[in-house]
Amino acid sequence: MLGFLRGLIRLISARPRTPRSLQGNEALRLIHERRSIRSFHDRPIPADHWQAVLEAGRLAPSTVNLQTWSFACFEPDEWRQMFDRRLPMGAARAVIVLADTQRTRRVVEGFPDVPLCDYTVGVMNASLAAMNMTMAAEALGLGSVMLSETGKTGFYDARELATILGLPRGVVPIMTLVFGWPAAQPVMPPKLPLEAVAFTGKYRETPQTVLDEWFEQMQSGYRASTGQAFSRQIDHYNRRLGEAEAELRERVLGES
Ligand SMILES: Cc1cc2nc3c(=O)[nH]c(=O)nc-3n(C[C@H](O)[C@H](O)[C@H](O)COP(=O)(O)O)c2cc1C
Repeated sequence: MLGFLRGLIRLISARPRTPRSLQGNEALRLIHERRSIRSFHDRPIPADHWQAVLEAGRLAPSTVNLQTWSFACFEPDEWRQMFDRRLPMGAARAVIVLADTQRTRRVVEGFPDVPLCDYTVGVMNASLAAMNMTMAAEALGLGSVMLSETGKTGFYDARELATILGLPRGVVPIMTLVFGWPAAQPVMPPKLPLEAVAFTGKYRETPQTVLDEWFEQMQSGYRASTGQAFSRQIDHYNRRLGEAEAELRERVLGES
């Protein structure tokens, strides 16, 4: 109980560590204060805002400028028509972000047959596009969250999405981004300290005490927000990620 309370207090009092000299910088503020938003006002996103968000995705950096992504875009009605349910979290728009390497093969002759590299590059680039869209949304006062729960590990797994969206080989859903006007600003979830993830010289292991403290805060946060033990989430992952792994092996590596 004491550990839970201690973790909870640390969680609530955590703040981004922006150097005081740079605290007026708006771009930095957006990056440091961005949070995943999971509840939205019932208000549409204007067309120019939406176009600017998608444009940010289109203009993202990518390996050899190959732009190995596609964006399946939805308004609430289109989502309902396609999936027979509401957009997650009452969001106003959604993008299913796809790693899409099939375009490369259609124009680049002699491209090596390297499914794992293809998949890695596809996921890397599409994730950067997703982050660009996220930050463009932030700049416009919109909120968003990346969801794997409606992507490869969700109710709509990769196989189901591939069928519904008619995805060819080489096109793999990696996440669903949902957007809207934020109805709440969540506190920052426990982030590892910079010293635990950045190093100079040889690789340095994060001290166990730092990891244990972080995980304690994760568990406290999970219990505070869901009323359930984090181990429930692990059970869920055990069920769903096993299935997702099998699907990816089939879809990406061609294993049966
Ligand atoms: C690829 C990816 C998938 C995610 N999937 C989910 C999800 O299924 N459900 C959810 O509530 N949050 C999801 N998130 C959001 C993370 O939980 C969130 O980024 C993390 O807790 C850190 O919080 P922050 O984004 O506010 O910094 C996902 C994030 C990423 C990057």
